[in-house]
Amino acid sequence: MTITYPPGVRVGSIATIRTLLSGAKFDMFEFSLEAQKQFGDYNFTKFGWVTFYLISDPAVAHEILVNQPEKFHKIKLIKYALGPFLGNGLLTSEGDFWKKQRKLAQPAFHFKSIENYATVMTEYAQRMLHSWKTGETRQLEREMMKLTLNIVAKTLFDADVTKDADHVGELLTRILEASNDRMNAGVQLPDWLPLPKTRQMYRDVAELDIIIQRFIDARRANGEDKGDLLSMLLQARDDDGSPMSDQQLRDELMTIFLAGHETTAMALTWTWYVLMTHPEILAKVKAEVDAALGDRPATLADLANLKYSEMVLKESMRLYPPVSSAGREPIEDIEIGGYTLPKGSLVTIAIYAMHRNPEIFENPETFDPERFSPENEKKIPRYAYLPFGAGPRVCIGNSFAMMEARLILATMVQHADLTLVPGQKIEPKQLVTIRPANGMAVTVKMRENQRVPEMV
Ligand code: HEM
Repeated sequence: MTITYPPGVRVGSIATIRTLLSGAKFDMFEFSLEAQKQFGDYNFTKFGWVTFYLISDPAVAHEILVNQPEKFHKIKLIKYALGPFLGNGLLTSEGDFWKKQRKLAQPAFHFKSIENYATVMTEYAQRMLHSWKTGETRQLEREMMKLTLNIVAKTLFDADVTKDADHVGELLTRILEASNDRMNAGVQLPDWLPLPKTRQMYRDVAELDIIIQRFIDARRANGEDKGDLLSMLLQARDDDGSPMSDQQLRDELMTIFLAGHETTAMALTWTWYVLMTHPEILAKVKAEVDAALGDRPATLADLANLKYSEMVLKESMRLYPPVSSAGREPIEDIEIGGYTLPKGSLVTIAIYAMHRNPEIFENPETFDPERFSPENEKKIPRYAYLPFGAGPRVCIGNSFAMMEARLILATMVQHADLTLVPGQKIEPKQLVTIRPANGMAVTVKMRENQRVPEMV
């Protein structure tokens, strides 16, 4: 098949070099925006033998993710980068095996199952706030990571990791940094090379393995069916009656452990960022929360009265989508939208760039929750807003995450005022998810008229 390329550049062209060198460090966010501006929403860059497609055209994304997903795999680089950590879990597995595992895990995310988690979500948020004091400085991204980690462990594995949360957070950050280096290295080095970073990563993963194994052992020992994800996976039987291997169980749990907290934590961190920098919008959220909750703890039923907060969350995930791209590799040459995506090329649905595409979102850099009012949301083209992806590999934790983020945000707004510590340079950095490069320090002021109830 003759290959028809979309607009783009080959390495060596002045434009690419200029783009690549425009920052001190290669920045995927800047690069995807620049490529979109220069070459449109379906473009390619050829670095040596790698052809890298960036797609921010909703119709093309729809075709890849929804209409022809069977023609694509997740990219090998993701498997190389995250494989030592996540193994062959839901995020990285393929084909019939993935389908079987997804079907096994799905019931744990049905609405009936997750509605029971609402109490834990609010209660854990209250517990966090209870330890906060007026005048303190907190690293918001770390607090959000600890909170969502505790929630995912409690709701899906009925495990208490509150004591380990700091340590787990450090391990995860180091592992994600190592994974990111592997992703950006350009070449896949064999793991037997005694590189200090690789060895450290394996040591860190081994420590996490011990924690995950503890969840499995505890549940096996008590034998109870708690109806949560862990019980579902433990009870699953193959056609021949055999249970899931320990290795597979570990891979699935590790995947949920990571995918189930880091993303929501970043959604909350960036939502606070936009709120702290837009006091008039924060005031509206506060008014809504106060009217809906008074001094009661937030429940699932309250979400119906927290519509503006939901618009704020959605708009913050437009500007800062926690997962900024979805990578795919065509398993055969395929023609989509008039161009060829050759077998083995790197195809990226550029969620970040799509969400900031001026042809789709007017004044895309402006934070404006009204874009997600019921009447305006209908006008957003389909597949132009993809924080959770789309198609069969859409985020399994979508509803879980939206419920959790809304309950946590409401509980935080109800009890605390946060302000950014002045003088910080807040910029997004891709570390598998979109993290603030230098963290986000905030000053806490607890609301005197809204004391957090004493926790048991
Ligand atoms: C705001 C929070 C979240 C965001 C923005 C998010 C985003 C995403 C996206 C974009 C994908 C698709 C990636 C692709 O197609 O390449 C995905 C997949 C996935 N997410 Fe989430 N996620 C969030 C929360 C969660 C939660 C809470 C869980 C679990 C408790 C979770 C578990 C997963 C899993 C297991 C997959 C892989 C699904 C599959 O391939 O079958 N995520 N997520």
